[in-house]
Amino acid sequence: MSRRKLVVGNWKMNGLKAQLAEVEAIGRVAAEHPAVEVGLCVPATLIMAAAERKGAAFIGGQDCHMNASGAHTGCLSAEMLAEAGAEWIIVGHSERREAQGETDEHVAAKAFAAKAAGLKVILCVGESLDVRDAGDAESVVSAQLLASLPEGAAADWLAIAYEPIWAIGTGRIPTMEAVAAMHAALRASLASRIGGQADAMRILYGGSMNGDNAAELMALADVDGGLVGGASLTAEKFAPIIAAAG
Ligand code: 13P
Repeated sequence: MSRRKLVVGNWKMNGLKAQLAEVEAIGRVAAEHPAVEVGLCVPATLIMAAAERKGAAFIGGQDCHMNASGAHTGCLSAEMLAEAGAEWIIVGHSERREAQGETDEHVAAKAFAAKAAGLKVILCVGESLDVRDAGDAESVVSAQLLASLPEGAAADWLAIAYEPIWAIGTGRIPTMEAVAAMHAALRASLASRIGGQADAMRILYGGSMNGDNAAELMALADVDGGLVGGASLTAEKFAPIIAAAG
């Protein structure tokens, strides 16, 4: 099964209007690599302006509420984000699971709501260092994935991102063998739930991906792209990762 590589920047809580020039530059890099699907998940405040400057990249958001509307001060619905110009949304990032107390059930509900609003979804999973050190990473992350998987999960609107929490922003990554084993385990778990769709679903790696390690990571059989934090903030750092994907 050949799956089109998906390389997505997660800007997290970074980016003011001054950084829209980077969106434009990254959109131009994306145009040079049509075999790769490239996107930027920017802060919600930038989605509208970024969508006008995205070139060949897509623009996404970083979270949405699970409800369509209502008394949820400070929150944004998937429909609002879609109307602003988002085409994809990240759900279940570990920074939200940890700091906002999001559970697997919340994550599944958010993914379902996003799909209902016409968004595509990147669903994040990953283990803590304690779990990795205890040797339980594959079973824990597989269980997290199955518990977070929305109803109707299918490869045309859902991608998975494996992001070991201890690799995010630290400059440390698992061994290539560990990444390969995790991605194979996650694909097997997906197959147990969604059958043949598992083969077509993209499973991204995230956590300290950069221009030096991206090619080796994305050459692994079940690694279908990357979810990139720090190295996606400028075209200069992001371009080599996009190039490494194809
Ligand atoms: P870094 O690439 O900065 O480690 O962040 C990864 C991440 O959390 C992307 O969602």
